[in-house]
Amino acid sequence: MEEMKVTKFPEGFLWGSASAAYQIEGGWREDGKGITNWDQFVRIPGKTYKATTGDVAVDHYHRYKEDIALMAEMGLKTYRFSVSWARIYPEGRGEVNPKGIEFYENIIDECLKYGIEPMVTIYHWDLPQALVDLYGGWESEEIIEDYVNYAKTLFKAYGSKVKYWITFNEQNIFTSLGWLTAQHPPGKFDDQKTFYQVNHHVFMAHAKAVLAYREMGGTGKIGASFAYTPSYALDCKPENVMSKHDYDELKNFWWMDVYAYGRYPKAAMNYLRKKGFAPVVTKDDQKILKAAAAEIDFMGVNYYQSCVCEYNPMDGVTPYGTMNTTGVKGSAQVLGVPGIYKNPGNPYLMTTDWDWSIDPVGLRYCCREITSRYDLPIIISENGLGAFDKKTEDHKIHDEYRIDYLREHLKELGKAIEEGCEVLAYCTWSFTDLLSWLNGYQKRYGFVYVDREEEEGATLDRYKKDSFYWYQDVIKQDGENL
Ligand code: BG6
Repeated sequence: MEEMKVTKFPEGFLWGSASAAYQIEGGWREDGKGITNWDQFVRIPGKTYKATTGDVAVDHYHRYKEDIALMAEMGLKTYRFSVSWARIYPEGRGEVNPKGIEFYENIIDECLKYGIEPMVTIYHWDLPQALVDLYGGWESEEIIEDYVNYAKTLFKAYGSKVKYWITFNEQNIFTSLGWLTAQHPPGKFDDQKTFYQVNHHVFMAHAKAVLAYREMGGTGKIGASFAYTPSYALDCKPENVMSKHDYDELKNFWWMDVYAYGRYPKAAMNYLRKKGFAPVVTKDDQKILKAAAAEIDFMGVNYYQSCVCEYNPMDGVTPYGTMNTTGVKGSAQVLGVPGIYKNPGNPYLMTTDWDWSIDPVGLRYCCREITSRYDLPIIISENGLGAFDKKTEDHKIHDEYRIDYLREHLKELGKAIEEGCEVLAYCTWSFTDLLSWLNGYQKRYGFVYVDREEEEGATLDRYKKDSFYWYQDVIKQDGENL
């Protein structure tokens, strides 16, 4: 296709940035908050990098005014953040905690004061531990009602002020790491049957929350955020091209098709049936998923990297191996599913210190695929570079590598828009530095540097990085200077 020139981003485009409660708030036991699955999990030796926790995180709980004032200074149009379920319902259900409601109300009001559109993620991985103790959390379908009740509480409390709702952040990631690789709570390994059933429960919770939002008269926009890793076939060898197709069905369309069409991809479902891993899906469930699919307003995309697919023989690599959580380049292993695909590195792309490929065109590919397959508007709910940043003696952070990364991704996003994709928002990950679930505080993503290391005790003071001023200018010029 003819090379497109990037022109102005659309009128009202939401230039944004994102965060998640557990990764920024701290205040883990304050004002009646309940204990979450993550509060427990991080205390298991060996689970997180240097045993880091979100107990204090970057203390956003106490410094949200300072952080939102920085967002206003930058000119941010939207701020995506998540609500911690255990602040609203310390036990996951039952009595609402007024202090929790008040905290997020304050955040929303603070955003609105500066004309920043709040974008609320209802679930970004921190689950009240009480529900895990009661019935096994996402493993039980009982959770669907509790999640919907929690979501309705948020719709009721904030519905008049919040116009953008994300039901779930990266369902594909928290379930994979929770039930396949044991790296997230509940730390189960290779439990494929439960993995697919858990996912079905999450889909049902998502669908019922979307329908509840509409029943309650919600006129804002609602959808889910998917961690989309688009794939390229290694070459034109037919079995490698088929491995890409299989990968897409099992790793991408398995989620996006349910959100957008309300049904699972057929070949993947047949494969899982043969393996004995397919979830139990009733006729009623199918109706509900379809009804909700007709109501979603956008596909949320968290994009970090693309991957390559190559046929993987039956005696080939498995899905389980070392993941790079240290920032020591080259320590990640090639993984895959025997008999289907494996994901070797892409020789055309550079990688980050955590071995994630850097591929701006992949972001455009995501938008194009979603537009042609689902014809839905898109919210880029996360995109960013995790890197080691250094603060100089005069308190400057020269993160030109992050500027390069974001600029190149935004250029490709601009092309996707030119090519016909309807993109509503672009949120970088992240606004301030924050806790990376498994990689500690040393893997930094923010525009704002936070003075803290893995150990507690530093000042937690905020410093604007070079990328802060760069993004400020991009917003001011609506992307014309990219
Ligand atoms: C996404 C999550 O997976 O990527 C974020 O939604 C996360 O919560 C981000 O922090 C970056 O991942 P990581 O592992 O580098 O922190």
